[in-house]
Amino acid sequence: MDRKWWKESIVYQIYPSSFQDSDGDGIGDLNGIRSRLDYLKDLGVNVLWLCPIMDSPMDDNGYDISDYCDIDPMFGTLADMDNLITEAKKHHIRIIMDLVLNHSSDEHRWFQEAKKSRDNPYHDYYVWRDGVEGTPPNKMRATFGGSAWTWVPEVGQYYFHQFSIKQPDLNWDNPALRQELYKAIRFWMDKGVGGFRLDVIDQIAKDPDLGITSNGPMLHAYIRELNANTFGSTDLVTVGEAWGANVQNAPIFSDPRGKEFSMVFQFEHIGLDQIPGKAKWDLAPLQLSALKEVLTKWQVGLHGKGWNSLFWNNHDLPRIVSRWGNDGAYRQESAKMLAAAIHLMRGTPYIYQGEEIGMTNPHFSSISDYRDVESHNMFIERAAQGQSPDELLAILASKSRDNSRTPMPWHAGENGGFSDGEPWIGLGDNYQEINVEAALADPDSVFYAYQQLITLRKTLPLLTWGDYEDLLPEHPSLWCYRRQWQGQTLVVAANLSRELQAWQPAEAPGEWKMIISNYAETTPRPTGLTLRPFEAIWWLQG
Ligand code: GLC
Repeated sequence: MDRKWWKESIVYQIYPSSFQDSDGDGIGDLNGIRSRLDYLKDLGVNVLWLCPIMDSPMDDNGYDISDYCDIDPMFGTLADMDNLITEAKKHHIRIIMDLVLNHSSDEHRWFQEAKKSRDNPYHDYYVWRDGVEGTPPNKMRATFGGSAWTWVPEVGQYYFHQFSIKQPDLNWDNPALRQELYKAIRFWMDKGVGGFRLDVIDQIAKDPDLGITSNGPMLHAYIRELNANTFGSTDLVTVGEAWGANVQNAPIFSDPRGKEFSMVFQFEHIGLDQIPGKAKWDLAPLQLSALKEVLTKWQVGLHGKGWNSLFWNNHDLPRIVSRWGNDGAYRQESAKMLAAAIHLMRGTPYIYQGEEIGMTNPHFSSISDYRDVESHNMFIERAAQGQSPDELLAILASKSRDNSRTPMPWHAGENGGFSDGEPWIGLGDNYQEINVEAALADPDSVFYAYQQLITLRKTLPLLTWGDYEDLLPEHPSLWCYRRQWQGQTLVVAANLSRELQAWQPAEAPGEWKMIISNYAETTPRPTGLTLRPFEAIWWLQG
């Protein structure tokens, strides 16, 4: 048992522009977040991860930073950030910041200098290749569509960008660049932040000539240097976002000896509803057995060797209740079932704003409803290739990142209480029914299920330390697992379908204490079980 505060914590992720506006400009801000700390404390979370709030032209909503040591005026000031950190501490909540170190904005001073001439000292802060206008160095594609290379006539070269053309990749092979980034990290450490989430950190050590974007040969050397120059000797929590992490390399990223990060944030379980080898837009039905296989692999494979994040949602993913639950008749049941199934595993649980009230996808129906650069680029690119607008809108309605970026509905009134101004993106179509006020007023709401799960994690060490065994790996609709620790056993059974599902557990559940169910009536069941649609039940013994 290697105790660390962040292994026993629950993280709540905030998308600042959509959480709470305090000044009526239609965009959420730091003072808005501060005004909601009591709510977050009541929910029980003790860490807030804020998506980027640094200076940015907002081409990718802050993931394109133009000054690493300042707050974007849209969100407030450095003084507002100090106040937020101080107030959060009083609520026993730590703030973690999002660090985007793989690329900057093209409006960052470094890039403005870099593109002036090849001799400019900042030129080498970015990744350039010679070439001829119109013929990029190779065929690499950017994640947000188009070529990964953009021509700059002033220097007669292409720069490399894994994301949008306004997000030039930083050249981590340049030692001066690395030192500048460490300095910026120390600036925020001095302000008293609780840690960092490191955006696409597995992509910093790239070699575009070889087509390498993640897990490049120098990756772990760079991460160790970063660690040693910044948070290495502190108790800050650090979360490495790594799309390229696998169960073999995750122990390197999150080695308990602490040379890299506290934990990984990886996506293997969450990409299973797309056609293998194709883009996330190419939808395929989820096979529960595949999901369980991936989750078990991580639960077992990382045990004692590293640490994982537990999540269904974030600002890049659609709402889980719409995705793998049911956002109609069984919204509450399926939201609670999914919450229980993920929160009762081993790792640090993450709740994405609105998940705790069972927010659904917003059901946008027009391309003008969308704000996300990735969604717009996809729509333009695929429409040009002949895919029909209706089909593309249906894909966006299920997979666009904007599904999770709609404003937090605090009550049923105007703009859901999010802002007195015109929100920068529309609210979901059901905010009059699904909002915080309604959730707090209903003792059976999704909110209280999350609150119970959080309390359980704080009081039941088995959840943090116990091992994990899948009891029914092949079943297409039931997900049943057992956790064990120091003579205590927890069994979880979840039905991911809208049909009744029978299960005969090996142990006699009659002797067990049933702790929580997601259906109102909680009578213990003597032998054998029939789980109702989207039902989740669990017992504790010992
Ligand atoms: C990460 C972020 C995503 C962003 C991308 C580029 O995946 O979560 O929102 O667009 O990196 O920074």
